[in-house]
Amino acid sequence: MMNKKYLIAYFSKTQSTEKIAKELANILNANLFRIKEKVEYKPEDINWTVEDCRANRENNDPDCRPEIQDDKLPDDFDILLLGFPLWWGEPPKVIRTFLEKNEALLQSKKIVIFCTSQMTPIYQAQMNLRYGYPKFHFISGAKLNNYGPEQIKAWTKTFDR
Ligand SMILES: Cc1cc2nc3c(=O)[nH]c(=O)nc-3n(C[C@H](O)[C@H](O)[C@H](O)COP(=O)(O)O)c2cc1C
Repeated sequence: MMNKKYLIAYFSKTQSTEKIAKELANILNANLFRIKEKVEYKPEDINWTVEDCRANRENNDPDCRPEIQDDKLPDDFDILLLGFPLWWGEPPKVIRTFLEKNEALLQSKKIVIFCTSQMTPIYQAQMNLRYGYPKFHFISGAKLNNYGPEQIKAWTKTFDR
């Protein structure tokens, strides 16, 4: 069977998701694409204990789509692995910006999401992405907190290659 080609795209502010993304790129011999916001999130912007911090305001605004940088997304892949931290159980809004900006390309791909969080599981985020973007083909994703290389490798065997 021909091996599938992967792209790992991720958003990460405190390196937890980034660490997993880099390991995945290594294991799958895949390109790594970092999703970067145009206006950088400073530590005070993501201090969720402050009710009115930027991340919380964005999370509470269904129409919010923070701009992301215009780096060209590679298009030579079959499966997108899309990683992000959970913010209030949801993907940060930049993930929605990313999906909508690349809609034409991503409609023909399979998408596997992965996340890190302090404790919240991935299910709500996955359900809301599927519900919000019926055009995309989301395969079941996983929360990969503190997974080491062997555990990550085992996870990559769970989806269609
Ligand atoms: C604004 C904000 C909201 C968060 N909400 C949750 C949450 O609802 N549940 C949870 O378990 N962790 C939550 N976290 C913690 C992050 O999901 C967790 O630290 C994640 O691993 C960070 O990933 P990163 O280092 O790649 O940015 C939140 C963090 C931030 C900044």
